[in-house]
Amino acid sequence: MAALSPSEIDALGTRAEAMVNALGTISAEPDRLVRLFLTPEHRRAADRVAAWMREAGLEVSEDALGTVRGRLDGPKRLLIGSHIDTVIDAGKYDGPFGVIAGILAADHFIRSGKRLPFGIDVLAFGDEEGSRFPATLSSSAACAGLSRTETLKLADRDGVTLADAIKAYGKSPDDISKAAYRAGEAAAYVEVHIEQGPVLETRNQPLGVVTAIIGQTYLNIEFLGEAGHAGTVPMMLRRDALAGAAEAMLLGEQLARETKGEVVATVGRMTVAPGASNVIPGNVVLIFDIRSGSEAARMRLAEALKSGAREIAERRHLGLTVTSTREVATTPCHPAIQDGFAEAIRALGAEPLRLGSGAGHDGQAMAKLCPIGMLFVRCGGGISHNPMEFASPRDLGLAVAALIGFIERFEPGAL
Ligand code: GLV
Ligand code: MN
Ligand code: MN
Repeated sequence: MAALSPSEIDALGTRAEAMVNALGTISAEPDRLVRLFLTPEHRRAADRVAAWMREAGLEVSEDALGTVRGRLDGPKRLLIGSHIDTVIDAGKYDGPFGVIAGILAADHFIRSGKRLPFGIDVLAFGDEEGSRFPATLSSSAACAGLSRTETLKLADRDGVTLADAIKAYGKSPDDISKAAYRAGEAAAYVEVHIEQGPVLETRNQPLGVVTAIIGQTYLNIEFLGEAGHAGTVPMMLRRDALAGAAEAMLLGEQLARETKGEVVATVGRMTVAPGASNVIPGNVVLIFDIRSGSEAARMRLAEALKSGAREIAERRHLGLTVTSTREVATTPCHPAIQDGFAEAIRALGAEPLRLGSGAGHDGQAMAKLCPIGMLFVRCGGGISHNPMEFASPRDLGLAVAALIGFIERFEPGAL
C-alpha cells in the first residue's frame, strides 16, 4: 500500500483534533472536564464514539460495563483501544485520542478497500482512571475475562455501588462475563496514547514505542481518632486522626524519595471527618498511589509504609485499617509489537525512541488476554491530568499514520 502523503497525514491530524475537541466538550461540569465511569456524561461520550464508529463502517456493540466495541470482521482480531473516562479537571487527550486513532485507522482501511487478513475491534473503555470507584480497569478487565466480582460492592463518594451504577446505566452485572473475548480470539491489544511525560519533547521526537507499563499499588489508610471540641480538649489528650494521617503522608514521601527515583508515591485524595474547622478530626482516609517499574521495590515501600502507619497509630492511640484496593503488576509490551511500531515510526522518517510508561493503561488488564503494545505521542511540556494537556494536530496525524503503518505490517501469527 502506498505511504500516506504529508497532506494526508495532516488531514488525519486535523480530523483527530476535531474529534478530541468534540469529546472534550462532554463533561459533568461547564467549566472543567469531568467525565466519570457510568455517568450521563459517559453515556453521551459513548454515543458520540459509537456514531463515529458507525460512520467509519464498523459494527457497533456495547457490553455490560459500557465498553463500546466497533468491529471490522476477520478471523483473528487486532484490538485497538483506550478509555473515554477522565480524571477530575482533566485534559482532553488522555484516553479519547487512543479511541479516535483506532477509529481513524479502521476508517482508512475500510475506505481504501484494502482487505486485512485479520479483523479489528476498536474499544472505548470507561474505567481506566478509577476516578469514580476505588478500583480501575474494570472495563478492560471484563474484556480480558478477569473475574472481579468483589469490586461490585465498591462505592463512589455518594455511596452508590458499582453494581447499582451498572444498573442505572441500563446494564446488568450478571452480563459482565459476556464481555470477555474467547481464548485465542484476540491476536493482540494495542493502544495509542499521549506520553503524559516530557521524554519525547525533550528528545525532539513526535512518537515513541512503549517498553513496559509500570506497576501500581493503592493503599487506603484509615486513621480512627476521636472527634472533639477544638477549643476545649488539651493537646496532650487528643486523638487527632488527621495529625496521624499527615505523619503517614510525609513518611510515604520520605520513603519514596529515599528510593532515588525507583518508586513514586502520591496522596491525591483524603477524606476528613467530620470536616469542620472547629472539630478535632475523628476519622481520616488517605489513598496512597504507589508506582514503580520494580515489583520488589514497590512492595518494599508499601510494606514499610504499612509498618510506619502502625507505629504512628500506636504512638498516637489511633485505630488503623489498611486495605489495598488496587494491585496492578508491571506489564511488559511484546517485543514484536514494539518492533512493529518502531518500523512504522521509522517509515514516517522519525526516530523510534523506546520508553517506559509511568502512567497506568488498559493494556495492564488486556495483557492477561493477549500480547500488548503501545505507541506514545509527544505532549506539550509533558503535562497531563491537567486541562493544559496538549498534543499538536501534526503529531496526532503522525500517530494515526504510525498506527496505520503498524496495522499494515501486523501478522497475528508472528506473535
Ligand atoms: C491513569 O492515567 C493513571 O496512570 O493513573
Ligand atoms: Mn489514559
Ligand atoms: Mn489518565
